[in-house]
Amino acid sequence: MNFLRRLILLVTLTVPSLVFATIPVNKTVLNDAYTYANYDQVVTTHLYLDLAVDFNKKALSGFAELSLKWLSDEARPVILDTRDLVIHYIMVQNDQGQWLKASYDLAKRDDVLGSKLTINTKFKASKLRVYYNSTAKASGLQWLSPEQTAGKEKPFLFSQNQAIHARSWIPIQDTPSVRVTYTARITTDEDLLAVMSANNEPDTVRDGDYFFSMPQAIPPYLIAIGVGDLHFKAMSHQTGIYAETNILAAAVAEFDDTQAMIDKAEKMYGKYRWGRYDLLILPPSFPFGGMENPRLSFITPTVIAGDKSLVNLIAHELAHSWSGNLVTNESWRDLWLNEGFTSYVENRIMEAVFGDKRSTMEQALDAQGLNYEIAELAPGDTQLYIDLKGRDPDDAFSGVPYTKGQLFLIFLEQKFGRDRFDAFVLAYFDSHAFQSLGTAEFVKYLKANLTHKFPNIVSDKVVNEWIYEQGLPSYVPKPTSSAFSTIDEQISTWIGDDSKLSQLPTASWTLHEWLHFINNLPLDIKADKMAMLDKQFDLTHSQNAEIAHAWYLLSVRSGYDVVFPAMAEYLIAIGRRKLIVPLYKELAQTEAGKVWALKVYQQARPGYHGLAQGTVDGILKK
Ligand code: BES
Ligand code: ZN
Repeated sequence: MNFLRRLILLVTLTVPSLVFATIPVNKTVLNDAYTYANYDQVVTTHLYLDLAVDFNKKALSGFAELSLKWLSDEARPVILDTRDLVIHYIMVQNDQGQWLKASYDLAKRDDVLGSKLTINTKFKASKLRVYYNSTAKASGLQWLSPEQTAGKEKPFLFSQNQAIHARSWIPIQDTPSVRVTYTARITTDEDLLAVMSANNEPDTVRDGDYFFSMPQAIPPYLIAIGVGDLHFKAMSHQTGIYAETNILAAAVAEFDDTQAMIDKAEKMYGKYRWGRYDLLILPPSFPFGGMENPRLSFITPTVIAGDKSLVNLIAHELAHSWSGNLVTNESWRDLWLNEGFTSYVENRIMEAVFGDKRSTMEQALDAQGLNYEIAELAPGDTQLYIDLKGRDPDDAFSGVPYTKGQLFLIFLEQKFGRDRFDAFVLAYFDSHAFQSLGTAEFVKYLKANLTHKFPNIVSDKVVNEWIYEQGLPSYVPKPTSSAFSTIDEQISTWIGDDSKLSQLPTASWTLHEWLHFINNLPLDIKADKMAMLDKQFDLTHSQNAEIAHAWYLLSVRSGYDVVFPAMAEYLIAIGRRKLIVPLYKELAQTEAGKVWALKVYQQARPGYHGLAQGTVDGILKK
């Protein structure tokens, strides 16, 4: 850490209120059932983390300092969320600036919520410090050995806090209803670089001692860290990539439209308010496609396809800079406010950058996927405002908040016209910037600023049906792509007549056309037909992770076992839940498939993230 940074550290530690101008809005109603925090009485406004990264012990250790703002007149215990943390001791600061030891109680661990930490302050403390370490069990961290990385020489650590995993490495009010600014000092091995969802400086001195500052107030699920043999390459003045050296150039080539995406998004939805926008490319065990950590989206390497065919993922994570990070769901029941809006904005960005042929195909693929998913989900899980029934929010995860949410917004866009709808969305982001809100509050805003403002277009009943009722309404928009209709015809021609295979115009097909083709082949397609396709296109060894996924799924369903060796390699190499979970589920449908899956899983499991392990354990143990 150089002198200037030390100085900034000193200043930000002593006078946070001067540096952090964003004032979070406080909630007086406790709508989030997934936190123990008494955030109606006291809220954290700023967090300072001072943590050392220990790869041997798989632990982060040091302290978290929370700046508190009291909403209650009386002093109350401060209740924080924790999970699997070892608490060493806790200090509180009084008005005179004196630090005093505080007594506390760490409750028994709840499987979903973790352990409630009650800190007894006899006065309204302005700051408190929890000295602690995280453990190897931390659900929000994955510690990778060198062999599990691209370079194979140095270890890697990354966090994934959403939904309620921040508490497994930070004692905090872990609810999206509370927003904090943060600063952090992270020390690690000298040859490793640490990055956070904060002000990463491309030219930082690599000395194992790093300082970060996030001056905008964010919910704790957006605090993020990555540590590894990372290097940086710029893509534009505002965007760049952190990755291990051997995938850096490929990632830059794949994602070099990121600046264009920002520019288009700003035109539609207002200024990008976060300064830089960088991407961190993670090892393939990252359990998601992407995670919208502010200023630094975390990205799976499985979208580096070589032809930019999967870059809607970047549009998606970028879109969260408006929906999710700027305007945030106040609880995980309201996830659709984050993901539905983001899926909508993602698709608008894709349309603006790549044209509407592609964006419509992406809509149609997702809509078809949603229909299949809804058929399999419990009816109660198909509402936008979902009833989590005390389950872990991770277990209730589905395409509903994403695609049903997106279809609702497409519906509104079609009803009110783009001009009115775009103005509505822009004003929604602007008026709720750096705030969290729930579904009921959104509905109120929607009525006042759209459906009642332009009356007799969409009734309250229709709005309620979309948000509070199950399944899809009869009038759901049905995105149709003429390219896909053509493929449907070609499928039936070829199914009826083998000799027509060479007439499929595959040379001009994009990824989307391939996916639609594979997804719409008959489920009982004969093995000789599958073999014919394979001979011609070698789909079994497709380097595109989405094509391979769709092909393996159809292969398992239709009994084409030629793919098994390649699918085993795929399941061992990749830990992204969306790509592996449907395959395990399908395999588990038959006894033989399950036996095979268990064998592969034995090899794959140690490389998976805890989240993916949890999901696959559940599928294969039944
Ligand atoms: N924020 C989500 C990931 C997430 C959601 C993590 C809920 C934990 C709980 C992220 O933005 C996301 O949606 N990723 C998708 C991207 C896709 C829809 C383009 C993914 O990972 O597949
Ligand atoms: Zn998302």
